[in-house]
Amino acid sequence: MSLIDDLDELEARARGMIEGADGTDALERARVALLGRKGEITSVMHMMGKVAPEERPVLGKRANELRRLAESMIERRGKDLRREALSSLMATEAVDVTLPGARPKLGHQHLISQIIEEIEDVFCGIGYTVESGPQVETSWCNFTALNAPMDHPSRSARDSFYIVDNAPGSVDHPEEHAHGESDVLLRTQTSGVQVRTMLANKPPIYMIAPGTVYRPDTADACHLPQFNQVEGLVVDRGITFGDLKGTLDYFVKCMFGEERKTRYRPHFFPFTEPSCEVDVSCGVCHGEGCAFCKHSGWIEILGCGMVDPNVLVNCGIDPDEYSGFAFGAGVERIAALRYDLPDLRSLMTGDMRFLEQF
Ligand code: DAH
Repeated sequence: MSLIDDLDELEARARGMIEGADGTDALERARVALLGRKGEITSVMHMMGKVAPEERPVLGKRANELRRLAESMIERRGKDLRREALSSLMATEAVDVTLPGARPKLGHQHLISQIIEEIEDVFCGIGYTVESGPQVETSWCNFTALNAPMDHPSRSARDSFYIVDNAPGSVDHPEEHAHGESDVLLRTQTSGVQVRTMLANKPPIYMIAPGTVYRPDTADACHLPQFNQVEGLVVDRGITFGDLKGTLDYFVKCMFGEERKTRYRPHFFPFTEPSCEVDVSCGVCHGEGCAFCKHSGWIEILGCGMVDPNVLVNCGIDPDEYSGFAFGAGVERIAALRYDLPDLRSLMTGDMRFLEQF
């Protein structure tokens, strides 16, 4: 067999090795075996010196062709293998960007916050401002400036959560002593914001103040130790009970519906004179009487009255020049009436199955 035949056979083998390489590693092994320092084609090139001079041009040409052929085949095969690897990677690791994603669960406003916002909308729509005050309040703002006598039962430690209690003897007999003006407590009503607003602003004042209040009540279906109120206060020249009625009728109709009626019952609050409780006609029986309204046809909804002149004086406003009205409503109560909630505690427990309904 001649050397030329050997090179033909080497070419066939080289083709087989290169075409048969099934990955870039196998291709690299084939390259080393053919073209590496000790590779078969390299060895042929090295042998040229020993070949008879007359055969050298033919054999040399053939060997060079074989080397170039092997190099270009390896390059082409390498490209093919890399393209194959890429397309199989694209097939196996493809991400279908058109698939719908997993939506993160979004929270929503708590029912109480929704109702507070609704009340704010009603009053902002007729020109009121929204005020706020601290939940840790002085007893002067919470009681004294609001005309509550020092021996008023609501001041006792049975009805208020005191934080700083400066009265002597109060630790031993908290229920017996009258709480002083420098005590600090969790506010029992939002009415203190009336005081703060009047001290900070000159009339005319048209404001509401939503906020959380606290009372040492055991939680049951109708009571919570922490709940929310919306306070309202108007102070201007010539404000009358007619303004109070017109405003609260409008508010009740906005919250409960045009067809609902209101009724004003005399009541007592230290900070208003005269004072009333306002009832709304029962939405279940429309005033006929049913279990929901305890067969009265009416449901109590808020307290209100004409601002007591003493309160105006305490807050630096001349009662001969100005008059006003005020009101306070329980937000949880409004929610319970609106949605017929049997138990106020459901508003505090954070049970999503209940809260998601609103
Ligand atoms: N502060 C009263 C309460 O917590 C509610 C209230 C009644 C507020 C009459 C008022 C008012 O401003 O005029 O029961």
